[in-house]
Amino acid sequence: MKPKILAPKGVAEYFPPESMEFERIRDGLAQSARLAGYRYIELPVFEDTSLFVRGVGESTDVVSKEMYTFEDRGGRSLTLRPEGTAGVMRAVIEHGLDKGQLPVKLWYSGACFRAERPQQGRYRQFYQVGIEAIGNEDPMLDAEVISVAHIGFRNLGLRAFTTQITSLGDKNCRPAYREKLTKYLSELPLDPQTMERARINPLRVLDDKRPEFSELLKNAPLMLDHLCNDCKEHFESVKSALQTIGIDYEINPRMVRGLDYYTRTTFEFVHPLLGAQSGIGGGGRYDGLMQELGGSSLSGIGFGLGVDRTLLAARAENLHIEVEPLDLYLIPLSTAAREMAFEIAIDLRRQGFIVDMSFGERGLKGAMKAADKSGARFSAVLGEDEMASQNISLKDMKTGSSREVRIGDLFKSLQNEEK
Ligand code: HAM
Repeated sequence: MKPKILAPKGVAEYFPPESMEFERIRDGLAQSARLAGYRYIELPVFEDTSLFVRGVGESTDVVSKEMYTFEDRGGRSLTLRPEGTAGVMRAVIEHGLDKGQLPVKLWYSGACFRAERPQQGRYRQFYQVGIEAIGNEDPMLDAEVISVAHIGFRNLGLRAFTTQITSLGDKNCRPAYREKLTKYLSELPLDPQTMERARINPLRVLDDKRPEFSELLKNAPLMLDHLCNDCKEHFESVKSALQTIGIDYEINPRMVRGLDYYTRTTFEFVHPLLGAQSGIGGGGRYDGLMQELGGSSLSGIGFGLGVDRTLLAARAENLHIEVEPLDLYLIPLSTAAREMAFEIAIDLRRQGFIVDMSFGERGLKGAMKAADKSGARFSAVLGEDEMASQNISLKDMKTGSSREVRIGDLFKSLQNEEK
C-alpha cells in the first residue's frame, strides 16, 4: 500500500454532518450583513505581499511571523491573505468602488491563512465572515457594524459572549499618547525583545499576557484617558447609539488588536467558554488605511468574525444548530423501482425539495439504515406493489408513523408537512 497523504498541520476542515453546522453558521453571520444592506465581494486568496506589509503593519505578528509568502513563477512575491480588510481596500481603490454612494458597504467570507502555532481554536487556515463600510465617519455606522456582528451571533443562539469596545484615538491624539507610553515603558526593566516591540509599536506591549507584565503595566497610561475632544465625542456617540439599540458592552481600555491599522472605535467579541482563543470576532475603524494603500483619504470600519471559533462557541453553549434536513429518502427495491425512484427524486428536486435515494443493489436493511443516517424527515420504500398501485407509504422518520399517499401527490404531501 502506498503511504497516505495527510492534511497540512493546523488546518481547519469540516465534513458532514459537522460541515452542515459550519455552513449554517457562516450563512447565519452573512445573513446579518445582508439584512443591513452589505453587498457581497469575492476577492483573491493571494495578493501582492506589500499589500499586507503596508496595510496590516510590519510590527504585527501577523506580518512579521505568520505570513505564507511565496514567489510565483514570474518572480513576484505573493502572500496568502491573513485577513480580509486589506484586500477589500485594494479592490475599492483599484476599481474605484468609492466613486458612487458612500458608505460603500461590502461583506465577504472565506479562508484566511496565518502560520500560528496550532491549538484548539487557532488554525493555520481558518474562516472569516467580514464586513467593511467605507467612506463615512458617522459614529452610528460604528454602532451598526457592531450590531451586525451582535445580531449575527444572537440569531445563531449564542448568549454568553461579551462585546468589548474601546477607542484607539486618531492621528491627532495618538502620537502624544504614544510618546507618553514610550516614556513610561522606557523606565521599566524590559527584556531586549520587548524593548524592540516597544520601539516599533509601544501599544502592543500592553497586550503582553505574561503574568509579570500585568503588575509592571498596572499603572501604564491608557489611550482612553488621552483622547482628543473629537475622538472623545465620537466614542461617546458610539456608546450612546449602542445603548439606544440595547447592545450591552464592556469598555476594555487595554484592548490591543493584532493589526496596526486601527483608529478610534475598536471592538472584540469574547466568548468566556473558549479558553485561550476566546476572540470570536473583532474589528474597528481604520481611518488612515486607504491613504496608506495609495487611495483617497476615506475612512472605514469593519469586522472579521471567526467561523471556526463561532462553531466552537456554539458547541460550548450546547446549542442545537438547525441544519436543513433532507425532505425525503427513497428506497427502491429493484432495478425497475430504482429507475422510477430516480424519476420521482428528480421531479421533486425540480420543485425545490431536498431528496436523496439509495443507489446500487442494496438490501432493504442497509437502505433503511442509510435513510436513518441521512436525517431525512420522511422515507418511502418503492417496490413492485407500490409501482403497481401508484401508492407509497410515507414514513415520518421522527415519529415512526406511516401513511399512504399517491405517488403523484408526493409533492403536495411534502409541502403540507410542517418543516
Ligand atoms: P482579527 O481579530 O485578526 O481581525 O480576526 C478576526 C477573527 O478571526 C478573530 O476574532 C478570530 O475569531 C478569527 N481568527 C483569527 N485568527 C485565527 C486563527 N489563527 N484561527 C482561527 N480563527 C482565527 C481581522 O482579521 C480584521 N481584518 C477584522 C477587521 C475587519 N477589522 C476591520 N475590518
